Amino acid sequence: MFQQIARVPGDAILGLIDAYNQDTNPEKVDLGVGVYRDAQGNTPVLRSVKEAEARLLQQETTKSYIGSHGDPRYGEAVLALVLGEASPILAAGRASATQSPGGTGALRLAADFIKVNLPGKGIWLSDPTWPNHLGIFEAAGLKLNKYPYVNAANQLDFPAMLACLQQIPHGDVVLLHACCHNPSGFDLTREQWDQVLEVVKERELLPLVDFAYQGFGDGLDEDAYGVRLLAEHLDEMIITSSCSKNFGLYRERTGCLILIARNHEEMLNIRSQAAITARENYSNPPSHGGAIVSEILQSTELTQLWRDEVTEMRNRINGLRQDFVDALKPYGLSEQFAFIAEQRGMFSYTGLTPQQVDRLRDEYSIYMVRSGRANVAGMSTDRLDYIAKAIAAVVKQA
Ligand code: LMR
Repeated sequence: MFQQIARVPGDAILGLIDAYNQDTNPEKVDLGVGVYRDAQGNTPVLRSVKEAEARLLQQETTKSYIGSHGDPRYGEAVLALVLGEASPILAAGRASATQSPGGTGALRLAADFIKVNLPGKGIWLSDPTWPNHLGIFEAAGLKLNKYPYVNAANQLDFPAMLACLQQIPHGDVVLLHACCHNPSGFDLTREQWDQVLEVVKERELLPLVDFAYQGFGDGLDEDAYGVRLLAEHLDEMIITSSCSKNFGLYRERTGCLILIARNHEEMLNIRSQAAITARENYSNPPSHGGAIVSEILQSTELTQLWRDEVTEMRNRINGLRQDFVDALKPYGLSEQFAFIAEQRGMFSYTGLTPQQVDRLRDEYSIYMVRSGRANVAGMSTDRLDYIAKAIAAVVKQA
């Protein structure tokens, strides 16, 4: 039977990890998968995480299951982090948290939840979006649609986005990136979020906000502006949150599905559905990452340390953005690429073509996604000139 099954290409992002590891060029640079790197090129375990793990090692008494919604302390901590501690939604018991295997797991839960409970609803994704969004929602059997986001000149095209949202059928689901848009790095301003809210209300759309990079744009609270605005003004929404980046917990698969309902009773109804969805996918989430996050967020001292570490990571990325534009100056390209300093989060849509990306890989061992997405957080100060020189070569000889 298996003989009829075709081989498919590897994942466009994760496949880069293997290709990079196999490259023997000592000059190689990895700007592919979205992981943070420090000045030494490492993706370190945060100090707050190490300390929390040491405490957990002492305290943990069982490896028994934690239930389909996961650890309630984790759920509460994430709700406060995402919605703000003083959110009236929390006081009203309108929000449900389901711990998930990473932000990706939360997205799949959301997709299955929509498919089962909101039959016939289509989902609208930004063009471009994280490629795995397409895979996840398609695998769940949802009808995919796109709204414009970045135009051919590699700029955020907000008027086109808004015009499209105004045409979406009533009640459809619209996926929005809370901050640090993946792959482009172009974020909405506060005024633009305000306009999105108006359209969402007018068309009675259901927002699904993917919040994978809280703290990596402008700050933990600043990055939550759009999420909190929608939550404050709408009866219902879905949020998928991730601790992969801001807690550096990538492989611990630590995410959360947040469902907000009109009232407590309806919240309990949809929450029961989320438990079934989790049960049918993987039963219980892995525990370790969530335990670390709740340990940190329950301790004033560890919370402060963690906040400082997030600030350090964010400042480093934002600093690298400007340094990279400066590194392009000697090659006459700093104006052409000045937008990189304005983008936010780990990623930058550079505007490089797939052919130029291929040349960077083949001739310079610089790895990035063929869409032209570069992980700025993968750059290091001592490699900026190498990267700038290589980009100049492929841009000028195009
Ligand atoms: C990325 O986009 O590189 C990250 O979100 C990692 C992933 O799973 O693709």
